[in-house]
Amino acid sequence: MKDFISIADIDRTKMLQLFELAKRLKATRGPRSELTGKTVALIFHKPSLRTRVSFEVGVAELGGHAMYITDAEIKMGQRESIHDIGKVMSRYVHGIMIRTFAHSNATGLAAAADVPVINGLTDLTHPCQVMGDILTCIERGKDADGMVVAFIGDGNNVANSWVNAAGNLGFELRIGGPSGHEPDAGLLEAARAKGASVTVMHDPVKAVSGADVVYTDVWTSMGQEGDAEEREARFRPFQVNDELLSHARPDAIVLHCLPAHRNDEITDAVMDGPQSAVFDEAENRLHVQKAIMVDLIGG
Ligand code: CP
Ligand code: NVA
Repeated sequence: MKDFISIADIDRTKMLQLFELAKRLKATRGPRSELTGKTVALIFHKPSLRTRVSFEVGVAELGGHAMYITDAEIKMGQRESIHDIGKVMSRYVHGIMIRTFAHSNATGLAAAADVPVINGLTDLTHPCQVMGDILTCIERGKDADGMVVAFIGDGNNVANSWVNAAGNLGFELRIGGPSGHEPDAGLLEAARAKGASVTVMHDPVKAVSGADVVYTDVWTSMGQEGDAEEREARFRPFQVNDELLSHARPDAIVLHCLPAHRNDEITDAVMDGPQSAVFDEAENRLHVQKAIMVDLIGG
């Protein structure tokens, strides 16, 4: 594979290899040389804490140089076409990470670039996030082929990447959110065609019952701020709180991609409680992305 745009583009074997490599890199964290002499451009059209810092740190730890670029510099598609940007950047850098709005910006860049392109979040998917999430589940003793994952809230980019992952691994995925906010229908169909066990429901208690992993994300994703008030009313019954969590297995872990809007989609008590693995999850972004970069750019 040249790029990492979607979990649906890689197979089960590649996914498991990346988790193994990430675990090794985490266990032996320290300076390395896979990216020595190489530059990775990080293009951001949306804000970020985790993605920016973990990619910059990850590139540095692998011996490379990271370059942060916002749309103020390149004005993708306005000042210059995505095609030309991909071609030009490939003459300078050895890899590109992009966080953007339209998914077609990422796929278009990948198609044009001669160097690997990594998706650091689009409106459609957030594959690096879900790779780090599943690594966290495995670390916490969950069986990636047997666990039950309840995704509570918006069927957004993160939920869509969970759907893609369900097409490669055996876990059961239940999406519980308000009607009208289901994951992408095409991705659901494609994952089910690969044998994924995914159920979309609108009852959070039913979704969480007996789950090993309870996941949530913000009710209003980046770019949707205009709908925030309406969303807040619709999503309120889907808050992950102690009452809802009591329906999951007693040893269930709670994940949130972060940033969290505390006491909206997740309460302080759950986020800071004994079942929360959210900060391990955030850390694992670093390790899994290092594995992805070693695999794609390190050769
Ligand atoms: N989870 C995540 O991608 O965080 P940032 O938006 O801060 O990068
Ligand atoms: N769904 C959220 C994820 C943030 C990491 C968003 O797109 O804003």
